[in-house]
Amino acid sequence: MADKVREIFDESGQAIEFREGLEGVVAALSMISSIDGEKGILLYRGIPIEELAAHSTFEETTYFLLNSRLPKQQELRDFEQQLKSHRQVPAAVLDLIRSFPANANAMDLLRTTVSGLGLYDPDSQTNTVEKNIERAINLIASFPTIVAAIQRRRSGKEFVAPQQDLSHAANFLYMVNGEAPSEYAAKVLDVALILHADHGFNASTFTARVVISSLSDMYSAISAAVGSLKGPLHGGANSEVMSTLQEIGSLDKVEEYVMNRLATKQKVMGFGHRVYHTYDPRARILSQFSQKLAQQTGNTKWYEMSRKIEEIMRREVGSKGIYPNVDFYSATVYYYMGLDQDLFTPIFAVSRISGWTAHVIEQLQNNRLFRPRAIYPGPKNVPYVPINDR
Ligand SMILES: CC(C)(COP(=O)(O)OP(=O)(O)OC[C@H]1O[C@@H](n2cnc3c(N)ncnc32)[C@H](O)[C@@H]1OP(=O)(O)O)[C@@H](O)C(=O)NCCC(=O)NCCS
Repeated sequence: MADKVREIFDESGQAIEFREGLEGVVAALSMISSIDGEKGILLYRGIPIEELAAHSTFEETTYFLLNSRLPKQQELRDFEQQLKSHRQVPAAVLDLIRSFPANANAMDLLRTTVSGLGLYDPDSQTNTVEKNIERAINLIASFPTIVAAIQRRRSGKEFVAPQQDLSHAANFLYMVNGEAPSEYAAKVLDVALILHADHGFNASTFTARVVISSLSDMYSAISAAVGSLKGPLHGGANSEVMSTLQEIGSLDKVEEYVMNRLATKQKVMGFGHRVYHTYDPRARILSQFSQKLAQQTGNTKWYEMSRKIEEIMRREVGSKGIYPNVDFYSATVYYYMGLDQDLFTPIFAVSRISGWTAHVIEQLQNNRLFRPRAIYPGPKNVPYVPINDR
């Protein structure tokens, strides 16, 4: 394995430190979230994620991420109302979704729809804080409507209009399934949305910040972020985890599968993290929900298989700091809730849109264009060979 942090020489012969994948490189100061990867601590604006998961709602957490402080009662009510009033998306955007191929990848559909949504914002090129907060609220409110419509389009069903008297999480489940969810299902999704809302300079958030740093626009930043989240090394891992469980098939085959993956140097999805070298605190919370849902549904197989994978991974690679990440147990949580596997990563986006928009706004407040450098290790002064002589 090549060393991922090493000294190399630049074009002028100067030795410089090269960190593959920008590992450990500080790219900006950010007041939105903080991660202690050794202790397994995640804070949103200073508050531990466990506190928010236990006491907050996605709406309140979103207000907190966007406004840097927790809302007072009336402020929260007003904010919830604002989100509700922006749940409708332009009819032309719904028509756009109807016009897409039904078998397209759900994250590709989301990326293209976000891009399309920007065309209906007459001020999309105005980057004032006020406009971007308005835009953020609109995007956060619209994402569940768009994702639910995409899901229904993919399964050939008519769209379900948003309900004003349901919470953000409950309304999303209502629009996906066409019926109001149980209180418990809405609660589980609400907590999952809180847990996924922000996470420092992860690939998609960094993507959004890089795009806006050229003074582009919010929709360009967010559609690029959706494209980044889609990848299996990032948000796409939650769906891959479910595929893994299905591929393994039964508890007695887990040991062989995991040992074979490790022996052949293949990744086990839902494990490992660039920042955490210990248990991801979000995975701890989600594993409890997975267990509870497994018991409630009476279908404990997937949870038990997950626990077994975790046990073997801890035994084999725990000493290397490889533990379950957020995507590992979210997979079975969503599965037990009856959600389609193709929806897992879009649900991540329904949550992370609040972090992305907060980061776009923060980036613009003290902007400097992101422009790192690459070292060219190839030949120089290569003669141009005319086409007929090649
Ligand atoms: C998240 C992830 C991309 C972080 O990667 P990274 O910081 O670049 O770490 P690397 O891929 O360089 O891995 C470092 C070492 O740990 C091993 N490793 C990391 N994740 C692993 C996993 N999920 N399964 C098995 N081995 C893993 C690598 O094989 C490598 O071993 P080596 O040093 O012997 O070559 C990586 O852990 C991964 O691919 N995980 C699976 C996908 C996933 O769950 N993504 C969601 C992240 S929230």
